[in-house]
Amino acid sequence: MPVPAKAFYLTTPIYYVNDAPHIGHAYTTVAGDLITRWHRQRQESVWYLTGTDEHGQKVMRTAEANGVSPHEWADRLVETAWKPVLETLDVANDDFIRTTEPRHIERVQAFVQDLYNKGEIYAGSYQGPYCVGCEEYKLPGDLIDGVGEFAGQRVCPIHGYPVEMLAEQNYFFKMSAYQDALLEHYERFPEFVQPASARNEVLAFVRQGLQDLSISRSTFDWGVPIPWDTSHVLYVWFDALLNYVTAVGQGSVDPDDVALFARTWPADVHLVGKDILRFHAVIWPAMLMAAGLPLPGRVFAHGWLLVGGEKMSKSRTTGIAPSQIIDTFGSDAFRYYFMRAIPFGQDGTFSWEDLAARYNAELANGLGNLASRVTAMVGKYFGGLLPAAGAPSDAEQALADLAARAVVDAEAAIDRLAIHEAIAAIWTLVEATNGYLTEQEPWHVAKDAAECSPGGRLATILVAAAEALRALAVLLHPVTPKAAQALWAALGAEAALGTLGAQPIARAGEFWQLAAGSTVTKGAALFPRLDDVDAAAG
Ligand code: ME8
Ligand code: MG
Repeated sequence: MPVPAKAFYLTTPIYYVNDAPHIGHAYTTVAGDLITRWHRQRQESVWYLTGTDEHGQKVMRTAEANGVSPHEWADRLVETAWKPVLETLDVANDDFIRTTEPRHIERVQAFVQDLYNKGEIYAGSYQGPYCVGCEEYKLPGDLIDGVGEFAGQRVCPIHGYPVEMLAEQNYFFKMSAYQDALLEHYERFPEFVQPASARNEVLAFVRQGLQDLSISRSTFDWGVPIPWDTSHVLYVWFDALLNYVTAVGQGSVDPDDVALFARTWPADVHLVGKDILRFHAVIWPAMLMAAGLPLPGRVFAHGWLLVGGEKMSKSRTTGIAPSQIIDTFGSDAFRYYFMRAIPFGQDGTFSWEDLAARYNAELANGLGNLASRVTAMVGKYFGGLLPAAGAPSDAEQALADLAARAVVDAEAAIDRLAIHEAIAAIWTLVEATNGYLTEQEPWHVAKDAAECSPGGRLATILVAAAEALRALAVLLHPVTPKAAQALWAALGAEAALGTLGAQPIARAGEFWQLAAGSTVTKGAALFPRLDDVDAAAG
């Protein structure tokens, strides 16, 4: 039997179900969707995982405050909020893992039992501060002075409220034993932690010295029971990080699971926000080393969406729901805006004004207007059938060369996870094609009857512009899937070239692929102008 190719495997964090998603969560999920759709468009095998983190005190207390069991609460949030938002965002994930699923719990228990059997876990006692907001053991030096109602107390610098003091018997993972091996790994694989600022933070943290990690709690029971001592539940982060392997079948003997694990692990990219970098770049690789499993290729920590200079968050009630934007602008515009406007890896401030300005300038006037002009002219001058082009002039060759370069640049940017640069590279083609039409003035050429026959100058110009649109449909399929699909349909490309998803991205820039005689239609505007959007939104 042929061995299936290694899939490009990318994960998002699994999100806490203490509340509904805001645009910060959507940001990571859309970025992961764009990158995995890009790899699928390369015709690679891909696995894209997302899901929810449902154990721990944070979720338990939210459920209590709402008068329901944690299980009921989690079910409600997953079904009414976390799964539906994937639809809203037009995300094509391959699986969705919930940490309360039996497949996860069984495999987590097998994993920790194995570490215990190997002598990697021991009983001890923990004393120190804990932030339930972060679900993290803190060091006294991590805390800052509280303000307002918390003046005089030491608080978590992220959540701004007081930490709890724990004094418990716990089980510990011998994480300190992995300090040297981790430093060696960061050295050998400089791309393991990205971007550079994240890598530097992790290096400094680990060089300072690692302590063993408390991995169990015994004062509440909302978690995975420790198999050899069920009076304890596993620390929620130890449980959560394992989703990346349990979801692809680690620890299962079912042949399908075994095959999936072989095809996916190690993951190529763990996409995370910088708030949870250390868990992924320190604790997680140490866990994998202890278990003898291979390490993922890259942990990429992106920046934060800020509101009023602070991280948008559920606990500060500054969250904006994705639907607040998408109801007016649509999922394509949401995806485009956040991926284009914020350099991936840096913080960014969301503003309605900036969103509206980019929507009008880049989507409605830039791409949308280009598509409607070209398809309208094929309709007007050639009855909606793409004519045969004549011999290309230097101008068509220059446009084709630019398209080829845009593909190469976008591909390279995606490999660096510089999503914003990939979109900028694609947009050089939008701009160049608009410029090409301005220079070639097909509406003027059309006044000369001799130029209007198939193979004439007018046909050549419109086919070249249609070729640019074809390339854009392929390149934008991962970014704005609905608009790209509508463009593919408007170009009538499917009859000769097949489905949009089947177009290899590497060949997108090659001109003269569309077939003469294809039915070109001027459909509805890809991105209706904003005054029209406002009117439609009432
Ligand atoms: O940390 N800007 O879950 P969580 C950008 N369950 N991204 C943001 C953001 C913002 N303002 N706010 C949230 C957890 N995010 C754990 C993860 S993984 C094994 C367990 C995104 O619900 C970003 O990806 O607090 C961040 O890392 C994640 O949501 C945190 O989600
Ligand atoms: Mg959080």
